Amino acid sequence: MSSEGVNTGRRKFLTAATSAVGVAGVVGVAVPFLGSWNPSAKAKAAGAPVKADIGKLEPGQMVVVEWRGKPVYVMHRTPSQLEDLPKLDGTLKDPQSEISEQPAYISGVGRSLRPEILVVVGLCTHLGCAPKFRPEVGAADLGGDEWLGGFFCPCHGSKFDLAGRVYSGVPASTNLAVPPYSFEGDNVLVIGVDAEAA
Ligand code: FES
Repeated sequence: MSSEGVNTGRRKFLTAATSAVGVAGVVGVAVPFLGSWNPSAKAKAAGAPVKADIGKLEPGQMVVVEWRGKPVYVMHRTPSQLEDLPKLDGTLKDPQSEISEQPAYISGVGRSLRPEILVVVGLCTHLGCAPKFRPEVGAADLGGDEWLGGFFCPCHGSKFDLAGRVYSGVPASTNLAVPPYSFEGDNVLVIGVDAEAA
């Protein structure tokens, strides 16, 4: 193939890749399932804790880890995403998580042990659909300038911020649940066991 032919092919590929990213931005971000290591699938189903290596989770990225048959969303929040969280308090139903499900050692607007790492059960607290990860600030279909990134449930339109806190005026009443969890060293997240129980 001539070099011109190669370049044409490459241009076509880049065009296709760019289009795919554009589509993903509209319908939601593709989020990979992160493999975890466990004693056995049977133990996992019975409720054993799962461990996941989050060392390569970049700021802004999210992965899904399965725990007790449920998807757990694990997201690495950027400094600006963390700064935005308190700005939303006036538009949320339970900004301090006073009625929402989370361990006693989780508090504050960030709802996490480490400020940057969010760990929430990825099931809508309305009727249990899986909310979509929508981190794009200003998404036109989610409120434009007022949307600072979060999760959107496509079933009946509930919205949650990047701490899993539910917006006012949507069907869900409580924030996304935070499961018990802890860390081993810098990179290993353990879901299902907290520091007190470990
Ligand atoms: S299940 Fe999410 S809004 Fe109804």
